Amino acid sequence: MCGIVGYLGTLKAAPVLLSELRCLEYRGYDSAGVAVIEDGQLAVLKAVGKLSNLETLLSDVQPRATVGIGHTRWATHGVPNDENAHPHLDCTSTLAIVHNGIIENYVELREELMEAGHQFRSETDTEVVAHLIEDELKEDPDDLLTGIRRALHRLKGAYALGIVSQRHPDKIFAVNHHYSLAVGIGVNETFLASDSVAVCQYTNQVLRLEQSEIAEITTAGARLFSFAGVEVKRNPVELENKQFVLDKQGHKHFLLKEIHEQPLVLRRTIGKYLLHPGKKINFAGSSAHGNYGVHLSDAELARIDRIKIVACGTAYHAGLVGKYIIEELCGIPVDVETASEARTRRLLVDNRTLAVAVSQSGETADTLAAIGEAKNRGAIILGITNRPDSHLSLVCPNLLVTECGLEVSVAATKTFTAQVACFYLLALYLAERKNLLPEDRIFALKAELLRTPALIERILANQDDIREKSIQYSDAPGMMFIGRGIHYPVALEGALKLKELSYIHASGYAAGELKHGPIAVLDERVPVVALTIPGTVYEKTLSNAQEAKARRARMITVAVEGDELVRKTFETVFTIPPVSEFFSPLISVVPLQLMSAFIADHLGKDVDQPRNLAKSVTVE
Ligand code: F6R
Repeated sequence: MCGIVGYLGTLKAAPVLLSELRCLEYRGYDSAGVAVIEDGQLAVLKAVGKLSNLETLLSDVQPRATVGIGHTRWATHGVPNDENAHPHLDCTSTLAIVHNGIIENYVELREELMEAGHQFRSETDTEVVAHLIEDELKEDPDDLLTGIRRALHRLKGAYALGIVSQRHPDKIFAVNHHYSLAVGIGVNETFLASDSVAVCQYTNQVLRLEQSEIAEITTAGARLFSFAGVEVKRNPVELENKQFVLDKQGHKHFLLKEIHEQPLVLRRTIGKYLLHPGKKINFAGSSAHGNYGVHLSDAELARIDRIKIVACGTAYHAGLVGKYIIEELCGIPVDVETASEARTRRLLVDNRTLAVAVSQSGETADTLAAIGEAKNRGAIILGITNRPDSHLSLVCPNLLVTECGLEVSVAATKTFTAQVACFYLLALYLAERKNLLPEDRIFALKAELLRTPALIERILANQDDIREKSIQYSDAPGMMFIGRGIHYPVALEGALKLKELSYIHASGYAAGELKHGPIAVLDERVPVVALTIPGTVYEKTLSNAQEAKARRARMITVAVEGDELVRKTFETVFTIPPVSEFFSPLISVVPLQLMSAFIADHLGKDVDQPRNLAKSVTVE
């Protein structure tokens, strides 16, 4: 979490830092701040709350400085307030630091530094780094690189840092240890950011810091060093110069825009790998960040007899849908685990296991740790991400890239459906290459997959009706989402969307589990949302819904057009176009996404940036 930026050049630094921070606000939005060096003096400006507060402060102060660093925070150590906002200073207030990540041994370092006379101003783990560098500079105050290197040797944890010092007004130092940092090289100006998106507004020449590297940044570019102080030579790569346009395209929120982008995103993601039902799935691919695509050899494919999926949150739910898809089509056992759990216990994978990491951002710390562990244990590794320039792409020799464009809203929507689409493609690819299904079945499945985007368009055309039906449930104290089989992960995702957007507590359950405890919660105040799509579990789910209705719960369903039977049980029906049970997760999740968005908006919640969340979860 947290976003780091920097600028060194000929322009006024503050507006550049702000525009870089705007691209990174998805990483955290508790507070923001900048440190600039003006007329040889370090000045720090911070504001609690959204970036707009810092923007107001900077427009009042109007610093003329042409060098600075900035930060947008998602609080880990210490509540969001001015003191805990970054940048943090050393005792002399001449060195400022911004930080993403966690310093695990900060308590002992802080005690030690306090005993040595250092005065702390915040509760953060970050501040110890500023004091530690100050301490290490005692011998030679002018050799900042060595001071930083020596301090780094005392830190435990994973972190990215940006550092400026009044003694070196023509330099910014950046450090990457298990995170991401991109340096953008312009003409007589250099940019720094946690995400290359922020520097690509200005330049397409980007130097990514690899693990355990330090960058000494000047207006002429950047020199890279290992933590041991050995210079590393690497040229910048040329990225596609995509402008980061914050445009809601007429929608009230980015969330709604992104929900509406799903047909396009699915056409792009599916179309990239599958042109026509009669063609084979083609997973070849490459990018400026190195090769991506799936490059499994015949021997590896023959070996795979188990699949392990690791992911977090919405990506985990996509993985759960993936389990149903792959087991159904390929008959290969799949288990799915939240990455935070998978990383903390003995991971039972071997060289016959295909381990799949799913992560929109490609930067989620738990997912990276879990897939790294699977790799160490010899599993065959594949990633599914929306960011081919992310850390995940460095770890995964096989990579499927969802074509979603940036997802600005913190709640994932279009990336969920695109990840699910990748699982259909992956299952079809495995079935094809391992000869698991007859050709005509594969043809029919591919044809149906290619038709799914058009079905979503029909739901979106009906969004006013979904809004009207949804907001009548805005006063519910809680909601329950139920589904069986392939619909169960969709129920989990529906519940997650509702709670993160509206702050209404919601639980997702396998419909058959209701009577084993959760049903105790139900009464006329707790609506139940059931997924009742015709197929193998339709009747059983209707029976479970009846059990809920008998407890006076208000009943809502997602059902296909023309299903009159459901109207006997449910007071509200969100209709979707007729779709097979197997492909329905791509479609049935859409009314649930819209329902959560409309309820949250009706309740006046911050739909794009829900409280306490951040889009890129780079802490454990
Ligand atoms: C929910 C949401 C989160 C993410 C999770 C994993 O709307 O966005 O649950 O899905 O934090 O993030 P990635 O996919 O970036 O690894």
